[in-house]
Order: sequence, then structure tokens, then C-alpha cells
Amino acid sequence: MGKAIFITGTGTDVGKTYVTGLLVKKIREAGLDGSYYKAALSGAEPDGNGKLVPGDAAWVKETAGIPDPLEDLVTYVYREAVSPHLAARINNHPVDLDKIRQAFRKAKDRHQYLTMEGSGGILCPLGWEKDHHLLLEDMIQALDLGCLLVADGGLGTINSTVLTVEYLRHRAIPVRGILFNRWKPGDRMQEDNRIMVEELTGLPVLACVKEGDRELEGPLDRLLETYT
Ligand SMILES: Nc1ncnc2c1ncn2[C@@H]1O[C@H](COP(=O)(O)OP(=O)(O)OP(=O)(O)O)[C@@H](O)[C@H]1O
Ligand SMILES: [Mg+2]
Repeated sequence: MGKAIFITGTGTDVGKTYVTGLLVKKIREAGLDGSYYKAALSGAEPDGNGKLVPGDAAWVKETAGIPDPLEDLVTYVYREAVSPHLAARINNHPVDLDKIRQAFRKAKDRHQYLTMEGSGGILCPLGWEKDHHLLLEDMIQALDLGCLLVADGGLGTINSTVLTVEYLRHRAIPVRGILFNRWKPGDRMQEDNRIMVEELTGLPVLACVKEGDRELEGPLDRLLETYT
């Protein structure tokens, strides 16, 4: 059985998939067996045959060279670019935590280092019906995962990063580090954001990804230590 980490972000589009792709690539290039899993993806585009393509999984598979079929990398794929709970309701296809648990276990059993990407930011409903409430954080807890947090290096990140870390801690979910995206080295505000976020959360910034980076810079060991 392998180890896993959950990648959450300070919001949708912050770069979870981009950073995860480079992270899994780095793991695989080190000769380790890294893979990817995402429970629910919305906003999938259909291919020429009308089949929905899970864009996040496809990008990470391609970037990192993961051999597994796309079907194993993501369980729920919805076309509508809305929160998963609403996409599930529109399609009458609810997210089932047991099904996710099985797919996650299978992936974790087959690979050494499994990187699981969340949907949206940390407050993301996966299912919200009268008799059934499921939040992203319920799933993280059910899978017994710790988190890495992807945050933008720019303006507003002190607020969104510290709020997200506090929210995770309130739910007793371990946060193991921060990954900055769209990082501008030497930029006075961004360098200060990094220091402020580390001091206010007590967490290390474990990697900084610049616009257009094709590799994750820096040592891999501290990142691998966050997987459990
Ligand atoms: N460092 C970067 N360099 C170049 N493009 C980037 C970078 N980070 C993100 N992007 C681009 O920005 C867009 C949003 O990034 P991404 O899909 O990784 O966000 P996300 O947090 O995974 O979003 P979602 O909540 O939809 O899963 C994508 O088109 C991605 O290719
Ligand atoms: Mg994504």
C-alpha cells in the first residue's frame, strides 16, 4: 500500500492541477511510482464523440506520464462548470463516498505516492440534498488524508491562505505545507507574502512554481515526507 496527500487550493483556478502535474512528474522522474486521483470533476468538455474528457486528469496524466487509464484517475465527471453538488443534482448522478473510497484505495494500493486533487477551494459541497450532505472536507477526513495547499503568490494571498489553513485546522485536517503558484522571485510583495504566510500559519512553503514552469524546482524529499 502506498502513501497519499490531498492537494487543496485557496480557490478554483489557483493552479492545483498545474502544480500537481509538475509534482507527480517530479516523483516519476525520480524513479518512484507516482499517480493521481480526483473524485469529482465538473466543467468537462466533450471530445469529438461526445464523451466527456476530464481535463484535469488528462493534463496530469500527460504531463507526468501516468500509464493508468483516465477512468481510474477520476470517478465523477460532469459537463456543467458548476460546484459538484449542483452538477450532480442537474445530472441526477450523486457522488457516493463509498465509490470514491474504493477507487481511492485501488489507486493507493497500486502506487507508491498518490496525489489526490480536490475540487475548487476547501469549502466545496460534493452532495447537498435533503437527506444527504457531503462536503469536500468530509471526504478528506473519510480518506484520512493530510493536505498541501496551493496558493497564488500574488496580492490577497495572505488572507486566502491563512483563512484556508485555519478552516482546515478547525476541521482537524492536518495541513503539511504550502505550494506557491505564479511565483515571481525577487518581487518584493511576493517575497513578503511568503514570509508572512509562513509566520502566520507556522507552515513551510515547500515549492514555488513560476508562470510556464515545466519542472518543479527544489528537493523532493520534503514534499514526499508530507505523504502518509
Ligand atoms: N504556473 C502556471 N503557468 C502557466 N499556466 C498556469 C500556471 N498555473 C496555472 N496555469 C493555468 O491556469 C489555469 C487554471 O489552473 P488549474 O487548472 O491548474 O487550476 P485548478 O486550481 O486546478 O482549477 P480547478 O478548481 O478547476 O481544478 C489552467 O489553464 C492552467 O494551465
Ligand atoms: Mg484542477
